[in-house]
This record gives sequence, structure tokens and C-alpha cells, in this order.
Amino acid sequence: MYKKLLILAVLLSIVACENNKLSKAEQEEYINKGKEITKASFNELSTNLMAQMKLGGPQQAVPFCNTQAMPITHQMSEKFNVTIKRTSDKVRNSENKATERELQIIEGYKTSLENSSKLSPIIEINSDKNKQFYAPIIMKEKCLVCHGKPGEQLNVKTDSLIKSFYPLDKAIGYENGDLRGIWSIEFKNN
Ligand code: HEC
Repeated sequence: MYKKLLILAVLLSIVACENNKLSKAEQEEYINKGKEITKASFNELSTNLMAQMKLGGPQQAVPFCNTQAMPITHQMSEKFNVTIKRTSDKVRNSENKATERELQIIEGYKTSLENSSKLSPIIEINSDKNKQFYAPIIMKEKCLVCHGKPGEQLNVKTDSLIKSFYPLDKAIGYENGDLRGIWSIEFKNN
């Protein structure tokens, strides 16, 4: 009797483990969904940001980011029925702070970048048993006016404006091509 129960327990745990794995087809499906969501979200954020830059440069765009980056990200989350997060090992907005797992993913991408390996999106089952997608965010030239080296691409005026909104800002000193952080997207039962 106990032996049978033991065998049953072992079998059940194997089934449970299998549930934590994604099939090849599922992986492909969710990688594609993740890519679509990050592309749409990046476009939404970037289009709005660049419009503000055109209107009034960083003096206008920084306050805009301060109040609108989170609501825009939130709207995109609702649109796709997921939770979208942009995070980094050096955050500007502490609400974007990385989890332990996200820090591991960031470290992994940094190593790949150093070794000139390809940085591919990742899909896995998270601790809440939901599917979680990660993809790298790479610095571009146009990002450096607000994330570059102080006194160089990031001028003193913009630097102090950013500091006034984010006294604990860590997101400066980047160069073109650096890993800025990651997209981290949790799918909710879909
Ligand atoms: C006009 C200034 C400005 C420019 C240009 C800019 N950013 Fe930011 N960035 C900000 C501000 C302000 C925040 C904090 C707002 C927030 O996300 O809540 C931020 C936050 C972020 C975050 C979220 C993580 C964190 O540190 O809080 C990422 C990722 C990011 N920026 C990447 C980029 C990339 C990539 C580009 C270029 C395509 C870029 N930024 C261009 C001002 C800027």
C-alpha cells in the first residue's frame, strides 16, 4: 500500500515537472508573442518620446517620461493582457527595479555581449507558474542624451534635471551598443 502511494507520488511529481516545461511549439509561439509586444511597446514609448524631444528637447521629454512612461507601459500591458516591465541592473525609476531572476538574465546577456554571442529572447515558466518572456534592451545613439556620460552626450543641464526627478538615478554612463536592461513580460494564463 505505502509502496503504491510512493510510486503514485513519484509519478505525480514527474507530471508536475513536465508541466514546468514548454514544448518547442509553445516556446516558438510565446517568443513570437513576446517579440510582437516588445516591438509595439517600444514603438509606443519611442514615438511619444521623440515627439516630445522635437517639441522641446530633454527639458520637455524628461518630465514627459517621468509622468507618462509608466502609464504607457501599463496601457500596453492591458492591451495585450500581460504584465510588461522594463528593468535594468542600473535603474532610473526605482519602480522598475529588477528581481533576482531578472538580474541573472541581465548578467547572462552581458556575458553574451562580451563574447559577441547573439542575444536571443528567453521564455520560461516563472515561480507563479506563468510564462515569462525576456529580451535585451540595447543602447542606441539617440538614448545617450538622457543615459550617456555626464558632461559628454548627457549635458549638465539635462543631468541636473534628471537628478531633480530621480535623486537615486543609476541609469547614466552608457555607450552606444551597451546592454541597458531587459524587457520582462509575464503572460497571464494565456
Ligand atoms: C528624454 C530623456 C530620455 C531619453 C532620450 C531616453 N530615456 Fe530612457 N528613461 C528616461 C527616464 C526619465 C526614465 C524613467 C521613467 C520611467 O521609465 O518610469 C527612463 C527609463 C528607461 C528605462 C526603464 C528602466 C529604468 O532605468 O527605470 C529603460 C529600459 C530605458 N529608459 C531605456 C531607454 C532607451 C533604450 C532609450 C533610447 C531608445 C532611452 N531610454 C531614451 C529618459 C530618457
